[in-house]
Amino acid sequence: ETPHPADLIVFGGTGDLSMRKLLPALYHCDRDGLLARETRIIALSRGGLDDADFRGKVDAQVRGSVPVDGPAEQELWQRFLARLHHVTIDVTGEDPTGWTRLGELLAGHEERDRVFYLASPPMTFGPFCRQAHRAGLVTPASRVVLEKPLGRDLASAQAINDEVGAIFHERQIFRIDHYLGKETVQNLLVLRFANAFLEPIWNSLWIDHVQITVAETVGTPGRRGYYDHAGALRDMVQNHLLQLLCLVAMEAPARNDRESIRDEKVKVLQALRPIAGSEVDRFTVRGQYTAGVCGGVPVPGYLDEPDSKPPTEASHRVETFAAIRAEVKNWRWAGVPFYLRTGKRMPYRCSEIVVQFKDVPHSIFPGSAPNRLVLRLQPSEGIRLHIMAKEPGAGEVALKPVPLSLSFADTFTGRVPDAYERLLMDVLAGNPTLFMRRDEVEAAWRWIDPILTEWESQSMLPEPYPAGTPGPAGAHELVGRSGRTWHDED
Ligand code: BG6
Repeated sequence: ETPHPADLIVFGGTGDLSMRKLLPALYHCDRDGLLARETRIIALSRGGLDDADFRGKVDAQVRGSVPVDGPAEQELWQRFLARLHHVTIDVTGEDPTGWTRLGELLAGHEERDRVFYLASPPMTFGPFCRQAHRAGLVTPASRVVLEKPLGRDLASAQAINDEVGAIFHERQIFRIDHYLGKETVQNLLVLRFANAFLEPIWNSLWIDHVQITVAETVGTPGRRGYYDHAGALRDMVQNHLLQLLCLVAMEAPARNDRESIRDEKVKVLQALRPIAGSEVDRFTVRGQYTAGVCGGVPVPGYLDEPDSKPPTEASHRVETFAAIRAEVKNWRWAGVPFYLRTGKRMPYRCSEIVVQFKDVPHSIFPGSAPNRLVLRLQPSEGIRLHIMAKEPGAGEVALKPVPLSLSFADTFTGRVPDAYERLLMDVLAGNPTLFMRRDEVEAAWRWIDPILTEWESQSMLPEPYPAGTPGPAGAHELVGRSGRTWHDED
């Protein structure tokens, strides 16, 4: 199928996300022949650049992160650069010049797919949509993509959804959570619903608990302005970790289509047992990294990260690590804890879901241990099922847990596309299945809000943990209380 011509308008188009993720992803799509010849990428920023400046900036900053070797590749890269445009727009001001210029660029191309990608802070979403509408640029074939975080609590998320919803219909709104575009995350649905053997044991009768970990080694240098007011709960848990939880816990959808999957995910979010008031201390942990050694390199603590802004009161209070004991209150999952944890400056980078099964009902061998299914999302994507086996030998039966292991890199050859490639192509194709629906985002905030309220009302600061260690002591107590331990890298 030949791709349909599109105008992709990226607000915040010279920012970090655009340079690190969106433009490289678009270049890969272009190389793979997924963009129509006429398709343009129009960056909007306050930067005052012209097209040539912007192309030069992309050439300098992006070329190194994508494959451009040899004359054929050079030609592709030049063709990509020629798609790029820049228009200066400031949504906080009243100056209409930029909108007029954008209007001129778009005039006569109303039949194209028009995508407004808002890679900007959430408070700009409403003003941007209103101004684009006032300038007459929102066509029936337009779509809008909203980057996370969508607001900072339920009320602000609702206000943004109302503002954007006043201009765009829900089917035109694509709320992105890039975790849903990751190959291994999509594979979770295939593992669960294209194989018969798991589903019968995927419940509280057989499963003891689930752990969802997103550990990063990176810190937050240069991100203070954003991170001080976000923190791990808003930055990672409200979206990425809760989405993973939904995919693990959801019922089998009737169809693989846009509404069926999202309907089932919403039901999981609605079934989360609220954690509020005095329970917050029992079921949640927050931490902040102090100076330490990460990957063999000494690194500063959160408060001493190099930044253009000095630390403030908010910097002292913000969490760079969060752990929560969640529960899905429904027939399938009653009594099964879902432990969530995420942190910056952990000892290793690893996103994984661990499904810990119960022990056999009656053991006839000494030393048996319960089975564990580990879904590794990154790095070295794979699936491992730890089973018990007999160690060879003529003496007493000795058991050993051994992994049945599937490594994606060994099994499938070829490049694994980045999450943004898949998601950008879905937006252009008008397929919202892997995007969050309004009710989903709001259900997630509804569960997060009371935890935030309690944390923010406390005078206590987050528990310190040295960079390069797996989080504060409280995180170990959270699981240790019921005799469990975190499963760490093996
Ligand atoms: C982003 C967060 O959404 O996800 C970042 O804002 C985080 O803080 C990033 O580092 C992690 O994404 P990935 O794909 O590297 O796991």
